[in-house]
Amino acid sequence: MKIGIIGAGKAGTTIGKVISDSSDCLVGFYSRSFQSACDSANFTNSNSYEKIEELILASDTLFVTVPDGEIAKVWDYIAGLSLDLNGTIFCHFSGSLSSDVFSCRGFNDDFHNKESEVRFASFHPIFAFSNKYESFKTFQNVYFTAEGDSFAVKKLREFFENLGHRVSVISSENKAKYHAACVFASNLLVGLISSSVGILKDCGFDEETAYSAFETLTMNNARSVFEKGAEGALTGPVERNDITTVEKHLKVLDGNDKEIYRVLTKEVIQIAKNKHSDRDYSSMMELIGF
Ligand SMILES: NC(=O)c1ccc[n+]([C@@H]2O[C@H](COP(=O)([O-])OP(=O)(O)OC[C@H]3O[C@@H](n4cnc5c(N)ncnc54)[C@H](OP(=O)(O)O)[C@@H]3O)[C@@H](O)[C@H]2O)c1
Repeated sequence: MKIGIIGAGKAGTTIGKVISDSSDCLVGFYSRSFQSACDSANFTNSNSYEKIEELILASDTLFVTVPDGEIAKVWDYIAGLSLDLNGTIFCHFSGSLSSDVFSCRGFNDDFHNKESEVRFASFHPIFAFSNKYESFKTFQNVYFTAEGDSFAVKKLREFFENLGHRVSVISSENKAKYHAACVFASNLLVGLISSSVGILKDCGFDEETAYSAFETLTMNNARSVFEKGAEGALTGPVERNDITTVEKHLKVLDGNDKEIYRVLTKEVIQIAKNKHSDRDYSSMMELIGF
């Protein structure tokens, strides 16, 4: 496989580095600024291209790692170039967009005739790329979620599995819902921890103390839920069906904090019900207003 990367940012450079460290498949980079392409090419011991056409012609597989809002524009530009893309695979790495973003928009007539020869896929790494030059160090064993043309998905799945990654395939229709799930497990968790720190600050803690006070609790809980599942990890007043304590919490919380507490408590009651089928949580459910 000859892989060219369009977009020399955090994701593109990290994936390029992972590829170049373990294979000779990486051709090089094209980016909006030639300097970015040169930097990433130097970092991965590959080539930099000033013209996107030159990278495409040197590659049989293109990873489009530009920001989500740019993917369609980059594709429109490529589709208008009248290049022979016979057998070429285009893949992006967005979590929320499907491979449909490589649509027929922008095709000229000549290209349209060759449409069936071009393959499209998306492979979303369930990973936060925080740094262009450092993220590759923690990229081992990252899961990818793939969708798209079956030939492209099969080929890239084999490629990433050979690099030690695991790949799950989903339908294009489920892509947005799948991405919402990723947001629950990452960004919303950040929001939840931030809310809990805010409440501690209301109780007189300074921010640094609040974060460190919760670190052990949160890390142990996260480890526990991944080791034992939600039912195995669940503890606390809701599980114990301790109505008096939950009543007290609802009295002292307000605004967003109260709303988050109510909605997540509903989910926790469901977990508790599955765990203790002999317990009646209906009064708890009524208390939180559901
Ligand atoms: N960041 C994450 O944690 C993460 C996680 C999973 C998936 N992804 C996906 O990875 C993709 C890239 O995200 P990122 O975080 O790597 O973004 P990024 O760090 O901002 O990098 C994007 C790169 O694309 C280049 N670029 C922008 N517009 C371009 C254009 N029109 N033509 C050519 N190059 C262009 C930029 O160019 P210059 O540097 O040349 O100006 C930049 O280097 C997105 O689809 C995103 O959803 C990101």
